[in-house]
Amino acid sequence: MVGKNMNICIVGVGYVGLVTGVSLSEVGHKVYCVDTDENKIKLLNTSECPIYEKDLGLLLKKNIKRKMIEFSTNHKNCFELAEVIVIAIGTPENCDGSANLEFLNSVVVQIAENVKKDVLVVLKSTVPVGTSDNVEKLINKNLKYNVKIEVASNPEFLAQGTAVSDTFNAARIVIGVNSVGSEKILRKMYEPFNRPIVVTDRKSAEMIKYASNDFLALKISFMNDIANLCEIVGANIEDVAVGMSYDERIGSKFLKAGVGYGGSCFPKDTKALRWLACDHNYELKTVKAAIEVNEKQKMKLVMKATEVIGCFRNKKIAILGVTYKPGTDDIREAPSIPNITYLLENGANLHIYDPVGLENIIKLFGDKIKCTNIMEHAIKDAELVFIFTEWEEITKLSFEQYKKLMKTPIIFDGRNCYNKESADQFNVQYYSIGR
Ligand code: UGA
Repeated sequence: MVGKNMNICIVGVGYVGLVTGVSLSEVGHKVYCVDTDENKIKLLNTSECPIYEKDLGLLLKKNIKRKMIEFSTNHKNCFELAEVIVIAIGTPENCDGSANLEFLNSVVVQIAENVKKDVLVVLKSTVPVGTSDNVEKLINKNLKYNVKIEVASNPEFLAQGTAVSDTFNAARIVIGVNSVGSEKILRKMYEPFNRPIVVTDRKSAEMIKYASNDFLALKISFMNDIANLCEIVGANIEDVAVGMSYDERIGSKFLKAGVGYGGSCFPKDTKALRWLACDHNYELKTVKAAIEVNEKQKMKLVMKATEVIGCFRNKKIAILGVTYKPGTDDIREAPSIPNITYLLENGANLHIYDPVGLENIIKLFGDKIKCTNIMEHAIKDAELVFIFTEWEEITKLSFEQYKKLMKTPIIFDGRNCYNKESADQFNVQYYSIGR
């Protein structure tokens, strides 16, 4: 696939930056990626992928080999070569929930001080509404050479675990611009992807990102709220979701009840939008509710288990799945974390299985937990099992196997991995969400 070649610089090879850079190189652009993390750049220059993401490693190797993508710590060089500079650096959460723009602003000043020809700066990082305007002002204030630097917003909608396919099959590409020239450049950059392009003003583009993530978070919290009510009145959330999904106005995705949403986006972006509204003296009641429902939902299973079991002290408990969702090794804001903390505080003897997330969970809990990459070892002789991630291998385990391996077959399933009815057949005590 060869598109109209452009020279593109990506600043920040985190999750979004790396996937974007590799994808742009795959469609025929020449991509220069820059990051201050020397170790990461060294690793990338040996063609090793620093993150766990389906298909990314292969595309990375291929495009390094055909010299379509390069990695360096030298900002100046990369800025000089680029027609477009895409900023994809992190905007972490401040203590008050607002987005931290410190790193972003320092990159912007570097651009203003070093760029020697006209360039389009594209904000791909998730940033508060109004940031593009502020970035433009910051650039103009710090400009060293007689050049024209325009700023555009181009939020990202890829999800971890499916990031590469999300990029090539994007439902839409959103570009927020304040000039026809910027629109033209971004259309050219994205032309090879052949996906629908939505053009708006910059503030609306920034809002589309938050509104999309927060709407999805709200959808999940709504289903979790209804699931809790289903349990009380004796309905089944899975059947309810199927029944709802036939209505095209509702759709079939993101209706899965569970132990709440995690990851580096929904928790951060719901809080950031709520904070932004607050800052403008407006209360976003729906988003506030989504956050509150999610916080409570994360502890739902362990609270239920406390009612059923009473005490966890010295009990061997198996935890299956720690990542915030399958397909990633990321445990940021994963519901498993507060649950593990609670169980440890209550004296449980935890044996943890996850196909790829163990390294990260060990970093957090050290030798307080025992980890294994063999699921059966975690379950053997356990008195209780908690499931926090619906990895395929976990969903394939049968109640018969649980019965054979466990000391007492009691399962608390936070992701509704199994058919509830068959638990009775095998005499397994099985608790799930909303049914
Ligand atoms: C999310 C969005 O889906 C992306 O569109 C967006 O680009 C990205 O954030 C971002 O802002 O960078 P991601 O956090 O990778 O992507 O993962 P999701 O698949 O959206 O899942 C988020 C959480 O919601 C997971 O913990 C998952 O288990 C939970 N979830 C999802 C449910 O509990 N129920 C569902 O029906 C769907």
